[in-house]
Amino acid sequence: MQKQRERERSRSKGRPRPPSAPEADVPSDRPATAPGLAAPGALPDERLLDPILQAHDRGVDLRLRPTTLEEYIGQEKMKANLRVFIQAALARREPLDHVLVYGPPGLGKTTIAHILGHEMGAILRSTSGPALERAGDLAAILTNLEAASILFIDEIHRLQPVLEEILYQAMEEFRIDIVIGQGPMARTVKIDLPRFTLVGATTRVGLLTGPLRDRFGIVHHLDFYPAGDLSKVVERSARILGIALAGEGAAEIARRSRGTPRIANRLLKRVRDFAQVEDDGAISGAVAERHLERLEVDRYGLDHLDRKILLVVQEKFDGGPVGVNTIAAALGEEPDTIEELYEPYLMQIGFLDRTSRGRRVTSRALEHLGLARRAGQSRLWE
Ligand code: ADE
Repeated sequence: MQKQRERERSRSKGRPRPPSAPEADVPSDRPATAPGLAAPGALPDERLLDPILQAHDRGVDLRLRPTTLEEYIGQEKMKANLRVFIQAALARREPLDHVLVYGPPGLGKTTIAHILGHEMGAILRSTSGPALERAGDLAAILTNLEAASILFIDEIHRLQPVLEEILYQAMEEFRIDIVIGQGPMARTVKIDLPRFTLVGATTRVGLLTGPLRDRFGIVHHLDFYPAGDLSKVVERSARILGIALAGEGAAEIARRSRGTPRIANRLLKRVRDFAQVEDDGAISGAVAERHLERLEVDRYGLDHLDRKILLVVQEKFDGGPVGVNTIAAALGEEPDTIEELYEPYLMQIGFLDRTSRGRRVTSRALEHLGLARRAGQSRLWE
């Protein structure tokens, strides 16, 4: 609960970043709302397609969370590597090397930490970068670890720099130096730690300092899931939840889930509700399509803000290039929200292009949105 609140508070606040290149101001002679956009306030509050964990996901997430590599669908290269590292560490009777998992939210970083704990037969302790405020918080966790346990730190990019320094030493030497007292009376106490495995997760690997990144022996990037893998994820979830889901129904949900298992499972639950009340409970391809349309989840899984981002770039900034801060200001959103939650997927499906001069909307996106290319808007950059 505490963690959930923290996440909500901090969703869009990253560690301060270097100032980005100055961006053009929003032209004042343009309307505040681009043509084709709903007025502010007309948007639904609930972010059905938000990959961040929401309170109502929790129970279901736990039931559906795979506990072994065998049950985990997709990310084949990562799984194959992890199998080898786990087998080798177990044979040597050593803890696993430190593991860093990074990638967009909702793809299973926390799940992997739990699977590693299960496969290694290790105790797992979980915390997050923003939950650790003082050196004492981290020291308390580290000194209470049991031998060979796993410490999972979510959002590790948000750890305070002083805590990072404590963590480097702990990771490398399995020891921490704690300063007790102040001024001339201050003295350093060295505390030995048991050998443990740190599993760090982050959506923003670029914000990790080099020294921290370098101390992870195993680094994995989680990619958006192809629709085929997501279909298998929802089929597995349907089996666990006792939902009658046809192959085409699973494929339809998978296609619209932004490559993200958490969203796929959430859409499965919502479509189940409609199918139960308005149909006979079974989810065929046509049933899934009808209800997803009604939930305003389009063929590519775009929601209002995705469409607004593309429309704003096209209509207010002639298709771009335009900086992310300017886009955010035009939409009244945090730049981090756009950069972390929206852009990766829009780029993945080829709707947005990120260049050194800013973001540009692609002709593929214009086609999908039914927008016309502007006079003088070049195709060359696509
Ligand atoms: N549920 C969420 N992610 C999953 C995955 N990768 N495999 C199986 N079930 C999942």
